[in-house]
Amino acid sequence: MICDNITAAAGRLRFAGRDAGELARQYGTPLYLMDEGRLRQNCRVYRESMSAHFSRALPLYASKALSCRRVYEIVAEEGLGADVVSAGEIAMTKSAGFPMEKVFFHGSAKTDEEIAYAMDSGVGVFILDNPEELRAVERLAGERGLRQRVLLRLTPGIDPHTFEAVATGKVDSKFGQSIETGQAMAFTLSALDAPHIDLRGFHAHVGSQVFDSAVFYDTAGIMLRFMADVRAQTGYEAEMLNLGGGYGVRYVESDPHVDIAAEIASVAARVRSLCGELGLSEPMVLMEPGRSIVADAGMTLYTVQAVKTIPGYRRYVSIDGGMTDNPRYALYRSAYTVLAAEHMGEESDGVYTVAGRCCESGDMVQEEVALPPLKRGDILAVCTTGAYNHSMASCYNAVPRPPIVMIDGERDYVAVRRETAEDLLRREM
Ligand code: LLP
Repeated sequence: MICDNITAAAGRLRFAGRDAGELARQYGTPLYLMDEGRLRQNCRVYRESMSAHFSRALPLYASKALSCRRVYEIVAEEGLGADVVSAGEIAMTKSAGFPMEKVFFHGSAKTDEEIAYAMDSGVGVFILDNPEELRAVERLAGERGLRQRVLLRLTPGIDPHTFEAVATGKVDSKFGQSIETGQAMAFTLSALDAPHIDLRGFHAHVGSQVFDSAVFYDTAGIMLRFMADVRAQTGYEAEMLNLGGGYGVRYVESDPHVDIAAEIASVAARVRSLCGELGLSEPMVLMEPGRSIVADAGMTLYTVQAVKTIPGYRRYVSIDGGMTDNPRYALYRSAYTVLAAEHMGEESDGVYTVAGRCCESGDMVQEEVALPPLKRGDILAVCTTGAYNHSMASCYNAVPRPPIVMIDGERDYVAVRRETAEDLLRREM
């Protein structure tokens, strides 16, 4: 199996030690399941290995991967900070009682209202993207008589060899300021000049679903050299270096396994040796994992509604969810492992296209999946859906969004309830 929290016994799928078919019938489908133990374990790998290998470090959970109150509570209990990107995510951290000084506010188009709300909520650090935002933060911090702690987002000019939609660290990127073009240095000088800006350091995030270790290693090198240049030009020595997120996870058997602890150890060794070489004191290092914290803690269950064979073409299996709860195949052609939850180990009779319920031909969850013979009422499981599924869900076709049910050993509980038609109507005037 692609993850050790997925097993099968007597033809039945088990997730986090629990019978998937029974959970589907108990809660209804489509259903997001989250394995709380796995989520906590993923947090601990980052926290423990970062504190073992860096002299000062803090992992931040990139909460765009899955933002809901219960996940923020768990992440806070595990001692991580949070990366947020909107007033909505800030409101959720507050509602979860998250320590606000450990909240880092990202985004390349923060509005004045969001900036003010973040300041008034005590958000610890802003990660500034561009000079106009810097001026807005300076003005709003001035009005409040505070000096806002900030990091500056830079693009180190690295191609992370992942899919285009998530390659963010190249010079041509909508995020941050490029080191190569000189804009990063100009941005730094403006931040150092602004009286209500308390510059703490720099940030880079080069991409997501990255399997190439050299990407992080090289990013650290480019950022540290930039920090040495800044010191040479201005005397300012940054105390924080945020290396972003991006470690890849296994969606299918052919995906490699990333040993996060080993990766962190090698990045730390690189940071230490370069700091020595450049005569910099070792900065506090931050990382922003999203996917690798929540992806393999998630699974989605669906009920088969119909099987349709088009002779000479293909066979579709239609499910009661799809692009509304998981738009990733429609958007990126992302690979997923699909299993027949109550027919595990049964021989496949050919491949299926798993089609979603929306009125759109592109609404598919996966194509060419080998599955046993299926019929209406069977339960399908899509694995590794903890990241960028619930958080990217929509209610296209007025399809309400599924609940999130947490599994904690023998206990299961609803963290987010199923959306209803009344919820959808609530905004109508
Ligand atoms: N930090 C920043 C500034 C980011 O933009 C991201 C992801 C992360 C950290 C976390 O990266 P992760 O560890 O999750 O790879 N919707 C796409 C992924 C978009 C990623 C956006 N930024 C998907 O479904 O694959």
